[in-house]
Amino acid sequence: MSGPNTDYDPVEVTPLKADEVEAARDAALAAIESAGTLEELKRVRTEHAGDRSALALANREIGALPPQARKEAGQRVGQARGAVSKALAARQAVLEAEHEERILVEEAVDVTLPWDRYPAGARHPLTTLSERIGDVFVAMGWEIAEGPVVEAEWLNFDALNLGADHPARTMQDTFWMEPPENAIVLRTHTSPVQARTLLTRKPPVYVVCPGRVFRTDEYDATHSPVFHQVEGLVVDEGITMAHLKGSLDHFASSMFGEGITTRFRPSYFPFTEPSAEVDLVCFVCRGTGLDPAVGTSVGASGSTAAEPTSSAHGSCRTCKGEGWIEWGGCGVVNPRVLVACGVDPERYTGFAFGMGIDRTLMFRHGVEDLRDLFEGDVRFVGAFGTEI
Ligand code: PHE
Repeated sequence: MSGPNTDYDPVEVTPLKADEVEAARDAALAAIESAGTLEELKRVRTEHAGDRSALALANREIGALPPQARKEAGQRVGQARGAVSKALAARQAVLEAEHEERILVEEAVDVTLPWDRYPAGARHPLTTLSERIGDVFVAMGWEIAEGPVVEAEWLNFDALNLGADHPARTMQDTFWMEPPENAIVLRTHTSPVQARTLLTRKPPVYVVCPGRVFRTDEYDATHSPVFHQVEGLVVDEGITMAHLKGSLDHFASSMFGEGITTRFRPSYFPFTEPSAEVDLVCFVCRGTGLDPAVGTSVGASGSTAAEPTSSAHGSCRTCKGEGWIEWGGCGVVNPRVLVACGVDPERYTGFAFGMGIDRTLMFRHGVEDLRDLFEGDVRFVGAFGTEI
């Protein structure tokens, strides 16, 4: 059959019936009112005002109606949809305001509260300084060597040409492990790492070894039965004392700044020959021996002049007016050590040095009491910050 569908009664189309439209509107308004959060309201919006909501579907049907019915239904549906979207907007405004108010209360920051009840710990300055020292040498292509703190007497003494009658072997200096006949000591210096290295590696050897050492010293502001040294050892063909001097000057200026060099004073160590004590140009007075804080003027830039004026008097407190600071011992490796470790002294020569790390830290940072390094007061360590 052709022609208009005479059976079609728009009033019969479900969503367009007045009570159906009303019911859909009321359901929408009730859902909007009961939406307690912005998320809930979003869901309600999709369900009651979205493309597939009852009212949207009804709206779509209107176009198919005959003109007369279209007007009536259009009005009815349009009003219902208008009421729903108005209610949505109103509810949205209320919920947004509530949300903002809640954020202001819940996320408020009390700036008077202590910011950190459990401050992060800091690494011990001896650890960071040891690593820094290692870095200076690793940058020159050296390697880090290690040895145990509980050491064989032979490596701590004999291999290093410390004869059985050497004073350093007496009970005064050395901690002996029980029973004494095992000949085990707490190493008294890092020098046994020289022997360990030469016994395990073939030259060329370029190593540096920071570590803990032990001596039976009284515990006071300048002595401790446990302290730290850094050992350096080079064994290669054609190594001379000049290489030693150059390496230590580089080490000194890397640690204490440009222009800080070293001097050697004749000394004696059984494992080096010739041997020297190493002094460092005092990096506070830069060798003048005068207290730079006395008689200096404050320049226009506000910085204190580095050099004391001629009217300066008073000694530099860091070097006690010497201009130099004792730093450690060094020398050319004694051929007897090379022989004891199986290295051919006709072909190879070397140098070695040993510095106190605790001392280096103390004068580098103005620490006056050695005990501060060992007593574990977190305020001391914290003052160095969280250096990595
Ligand atoms: N081991 C020596 C000491 O503890 C220092 C040192 C090391 C001297 C290497 C010379 C060469 O005093």
